[in-house]
Formats: sequence, C-alpha cells, structure tokens
Amino acid sequence: MPYTTATSSLSSQGYCLLQQHFSPSQLSALKREAEQLIERHYNRENLAAHSVYPSDSTETRVSHAMMISSGPSPFPKVAHDNCPTVDKLLRDHNELLQEISGSAVDPGARCMLNYQNYFSGSKPVGEHFDGEYMRAQKAEDGIEFKLLEGILPRYVGVLVIANQNRGKGTELVDNASKAVHRPRMDPGDLLLFDNLRLRHRVPTMEQPRTTIGLRNFDHQAVHFAASETDFLADDYREIPEGWVSNSVDCRARFAAFMRDEWPQMQADYQHYF
Ligand SMILES: [Fe+2]
Repeated sequence: MPYTTATSSLSSQGYCLLQQHFSPSQLSALKREAEQLIERHYNRENLAAHSVYPSDSTETRVSHAMMISSGPSPFPKVAHDNCPTVDKLLRDHNELLQEISGSAVDPGARCMLNYQNYFSGSKPVGEHFDGEYMRAQKAEDGIEFKLLEGILPRYVGVLVIANQNRGKGTELVDNASKAVHRPRMDPGDLLLFDNLRLRHRVPTMEQPRTTIGLRNFDHQAVHFAASETDFLADDYREIPEGWVSNSVDCRARFAAFMRDEWPQMQADYQHYF
C-alpha cells in the first residue's frame, strides 16, 4: 500500500495496514537484531536511566521495550548501531508518520521499540491506550492498571514477525462507535493505528506470535489526565477513562517527570532485576 493510500485509510477508519512491508529475510534480521539489542541493553544502568523499560515476563508472554531514535535526543535512549534492519524499520515508521501527520518528524524523536513474544495459550491483553504511564494506580483486581497521568503517542505501529494464528492478533476498538476491527496480520505486515481514536487489545494466542511495536513519543504526543486536577492546559477533550490535550508541551512535562518523579519511581522498579 503506498503511503498516500495509507493516509486515507487511516483518516477513514483509524488504521492502515501495509501488507508484506518486510520480506522473510528482513524479518529474520529484525528478530536477530531485536534480540541483540535486548542482550546488549537490558541492564540495571539503562533501567535506571529509563532508556529501557521493565520486561514484562510471564510463562506465556515476554515483552521488552527500549527507546531508540535516528538522531540525537536529550532524553534517555539506547544506541542501535550495527542493527541496519531495525534502523530501516525506524526510518520507514518515521516516514509514514510524516506522511500521515503532514509534518516533519525530527530525527531525534524517540520511538519505543517493543519486542513481544506470545507463546501458546497466552493470557489476553485487555483494551488499553499505549503510553508513558507517569502515574498509575493498581486496579481492584491487582493486575490491571488505571492510568492517572501519562503521555500518549498519537499513533502506534505493530509489525508482525511471526504468527501461527491464521492472522489473528491485535484487535482495535473504536472509542466512538465501539466497532471492533480485527485486521488479518501475517508476517511482514505493518499496522499503524490512531492511539486516541482506537484502543487495542490482544485475545488469547493459541499458537506462538512475535511482534515489534513502535510508538513515537516525541511527534505529536498528547497529555493524558484522568482527572481535572491534573490539567496543564485549557483544551482537554474527553476520551475513555480521562482527558487529552494537544497543546501541552509533552517534552517539557517529560523532562520534569525525569527530574522530579522518576528517581523515586525507578527505586520502586529495582525488583525487576
Ligand atoms: Fe499496547
């Protein structure tokens, strides 16, 4: 699908699917490079620096996430040199974002690369928005989190590396109409969706599935607040479970978070290592 078609599909239904965007040999290279990056960067220092995120690991799903960018950034990120296919994925994603949003993506804009392996019989992942969860509260069930304040990337990308579930995987729920989209996603397919218009979930995977998620946190990200007491501007609009503003300077808010709130939060994360 050319990027212009992708743009119209995204504005009409909130998502677009670039089928067979990567070849089988590129997918093998991406898997290898993503695993090298995890090996190279998952350590206490990077976790404390907030350039890698705590691994979410259960018997049926393992997820790793780290921040990367093409150019220099004042915010935490890890290097991805010697990973040419990951670099191509990042550049393709930025190009697509540029086409869709109609404004240039700064090479220093950070993108979260999220490598996920689902094994047979994985537990479902509930409906949610992706984001930098600056403050969250454990829900009554003790498993799900309620987001109190965060930064939400405008768009989220998902590339399928392997999938033995006949195209089953990410499901998109339209917040306004409640319509559920279940795009068939086979290896090589790249999905990009509007993270504000749609929430997403993943049902139980009966068979293995491997994906790479991409979320640009510095290009048109929005500020989320669950309550009015956390409003930082006067243009919030309601979305499920809270409010979002386009005018808040998310980079300034993130810089303040790293300076004032992260040190305590990272101390609470120590048990992950
Ligand atoms: Fe997600």
